[in-house]
Amino acid sequence: MLKNLVVYASETGNTKKLAEVIFDALPSSTGKDIVDVRTWNGKLDAENYFVGFWANRGSCSLEIIDILSSLRKKNIALFGTCGMGNTNTYYHKLEQNAKVWIPDDNRYLGAYFCQGKMQPSIRDKYESYRGKCDDNKIDLMLSFFDDALSHPDNQDLLKAHLFVDECMKKIS
Ligand SMILES: Cc1cc2nc3c(=O)[nH]c(=O)nc-3n(C[C@H](O)[C@H](O)[C@H](O)COP(=O)(O)O)c2cc1C
Repeated sequence: MLKNLVVYASETGNTKKLAEVIFDALPSSTGKDIVDVRTWNGKLDAENYFVGFWANRGSCSLEIIDILSSLRKKNIALFGTCGMGNTNTYYHKLEQNAKVWIPDDNRYLGAYFCQGKMQPSIRDKYESYRGKCDDNKIDLMLSFFDDALSHPDNQDLLKAHLFVDECMKKIS
């Protein structure tokens, strides 16, 4: 069995970037691997899981839920990217929405989230709501979109690295 396994879901590459930094930050001497959830076949196993996802309507995908709820007696950390506001309150909400799927006999290590750029079609969609929805709400969504454009940036990736260090300290 591996010591550390990173499993992630990423449609457009933001969460993949975090996953790769997290994988690199993990000690290599004890055995580690990284898997895109699309190629997950359940055959790999590890003591410590770093499970990553992108926010999809405030939650994670079914594949990620399946993995989280299948884990027993593991150390588990969550990470992910989202397009909306860069606030601890929002990140906490995303964390709670995923954490509920982790069975109680695991040890939960914590979560790390940052913003991730969204596709231009999403900006177009927000713009298309002009005249149909509250302008203030549309402006807020557009500001989230524009704020997210540069993320994940180097600072986000550095924080992901530090998150791994914190998790490793908790485990040892
Ligand atoms: C269909 C769809 C739903 C989304 N839902 C949310 C959401 O509920 N909250 C949020 O903050 N971002 C949401 N986003 C933005 C993505 O979570 C964000 O851009 C993320 O970084 C994408 O990660 P990826 O590049 O790893 O796929 C959504 C994006 C798409 C395409």
